[in-house]
Amino acid sequence: MNTTTHTPQRIGLLTGGGDCPGLNAVIRAVAKTAMDDYDATVIGIEDGFEGLVEGRMRELTNREVSGILSLGGTILGTSNKGDPWHYPVEVAPGKIEIQDTSFKALHNITQWGLNALVAVGGDGTMHIADKFCGLGVKMVGVPKTIDNDLAATDVTFGFDTAVSVVCEALDRLHTTASSHHRVMVIEVMGRYAGWIALTGGVSGGTDVILLPEIPFTWEAVYRKVNERATHGKRFSLVCVAEGAKLPGGAEVVKALDIKRTDAKQLGGIGNEVARQIEAGTGLETRVTVLGHLQRGGSPTAFDRVLATRLGVHAAHCACRGEFGVMAALRNNQIISVPIKEAIAQLRTVPPDHQLILAARAVGTSFGDEV
Ligand code: F6P
Repeated sequence: MNTTTHTPQRIGLLTGGGDCPGLNAVIRAVAKTAMDDYDATVIGIEDGFEGLVEGRMRELTNREVSGILSLGGTILGTSNKGDPWHYPVEVAPGKIEIQDTSFKALHNITQWGLNALVAVGGDGTMHIADKFCGLGVKMVGVPKTIDNDLAATDVTFGFDTAVSVVCEALDRLHTTASSHHRVMVIEVMGRYAGWIALTGGVSGGTDVILLPEIPFTWEAVYRKVNERATHGKRFSLVCVAEGAKLPGGAEVVKALDIKRTDAKQLGGIGNEVARQIEAGTGLETRVTVLGHLQRGGSPTAFDRVLATRLGVHAAHCACRGEFGVMAALRNNQIISVPIKEAIAQLRTVPPDHQLILAARAVGTSFGDEV
């Protein structure tokens, strides 16, 4: 017990956007630090900003946050449809209108007597956090996303777990691909950044990796697959990010959901890549869409440790009065960075990134070779 003279605080805590492994580790770390070191009360807000708008919360107890370190998902629930400035309101049966409900969120913050609000989330959550900062709310951010596309932090928790899932899936696909002499296409998550496809693909020895950041041609993909077949390797593994763009530049969008600030639901490029490869090379091709398997389940040891370190730091910020900041990992140190810095731009894969060069050196194609 730290016996400093801080007045007891009421800290709000929410998890926003898509879930990812490690969220419960952050909840545990924020709550335990705030409660044990500062005697603070921690108010868990349910389903992200949705709960903040709708007034759903509960006080967290030591018992509730104990034993959840290894648990996937989030005990608070989350939502990617809860942006208070873009909130879906049913104005008549079946009729949804997008409204600014930020005044409701502000009302609840005051009503609940929150001295600070810790928001754990990705790019969307940090944009909302920044807007609340502008209205005088004392925000602290914690970065999360399996996509690893948040600027201002070297890595986000959830990413390592997602990559491990991709690696294991590729190892499994490898054996069946080689037995049947097939091309196996695996579609992985990554809306605007290809970190999962790149890192997962390299970890599984993928022959072709297709990323949102690198335009590809079908000819280069066929060439790689055919070249392997002529060298006696009648199978290939192709790892494609959901956000990779088809030759010509189009994204493959599965659906649009106006309830979300970013309405696009991506998905389907794997099928298109498989169809084209089979037609262009004559090789039997199958596709696996890894989907939400990458987001669910237990976090890796790395993600548990990172989430814990970030959560502890965020609690210190919230309880000591350091606001408008996001906890971040830089050079293996946890530091505070302005939330504004985190949302200034997305952290995409630089086409000359060392890992891309390493992958090319071991023969991986990015579909852009001429
Ligand atoms: O932002 C993380 C992410 O995993 C993206 O890669 C993907 O497009 C999105 O979540 C899918 O989210 P949901 O299925 O929850 O809409």
